[in-house]
Amino acid sequence: MMIIRAQSYDDMSRKAANIISAQVILHPASVLGLATGSSPLGTYRLLIDRHRKGDLDFSAVKSVNLDEYQGLAPDSPQSYRYFMRHNLFQHINIRPENTYIPNGLEADAQAECKRYDGVIDDAGGIDLQLLGIGHNGHIGFNEPGGAFEKGTHLVALSDSTIEANKRFFDSEADVPRHAYTMGIRSIMHARRIVLIASGKDKAQIIQKALRGPITPAVPASVLQLHGNFTLVADEDALFLLR
Ligand code: F6R
Repeated sequence: MMIIRAQSYDDMSRKAANIISAQVILHPASVLGLATGSSPLGTYRLLIDRHRKGDLDFSAVKSVNLDEYQGLAPDSPQSYRYFMRHNLFQHINIRPENTYIPNGLEADAQAECKRYDGVIDDAGGIDLQLLGIGHNGHIGFNEPGGAFEKGTHLVALSDSTIEANKRFFDSEADVPRHAYTMGIRSIMHARRIVLIASGKDKAQIIQKALRGPITPAVPASVLQLHGNFTLVADEDALFLLR
């Protein structure tokens, strides 16, 4: 495990963008595993800047996103498809047909999970997986207690995740109760994993996930077992790890 210390959220974003840029420059046909949420926004802004300056070409890149709410249409502003389009995809030259996200509207959940696992396999697996971390240790929407060996599956969101994500909705009642998530198995098969974390509110879970026991009760703790895992975090998030 490598830990890269950043001064601030902006510095964390710069350091994460540097790693992703290097990946795309060295391997233009990379498969990037991408996340939504607040953590990667700064990283995505920097990738957009670098693309606009002519330094990054995404024309051969494929992306697979970690998760999507069940029941939300791709053009719903709270959907992760919408998030990715507005915060990254429409500002860079990635081909829309090379961007993959679970389909929240598919009625047959089992078929959708199978399809999404097939998408990842057909792409040849993930070269670099970017992750954020939930306060309860979730990665993607792999909530505490889920099995490490699962592929894509439908999860019931925990109360703490619903509480944390209600900021993106009009009210807590509007937060979908279920989501598709890439499973821990697919995440762990990524050739490289980069977890980003910023802020004092992430310090406790970072400490627990990286220094505590490896257990499904703290899904991110499984990252301790990955051979090419990098944490990029600011001083606040690393506060308890000293
Ligand atoms: C979203 C995802 C989630 C978030 C996590 C942290 O695609 O995978 O696991 O990374 O909930 O969210 P933020 O970054 O908003 O603190």
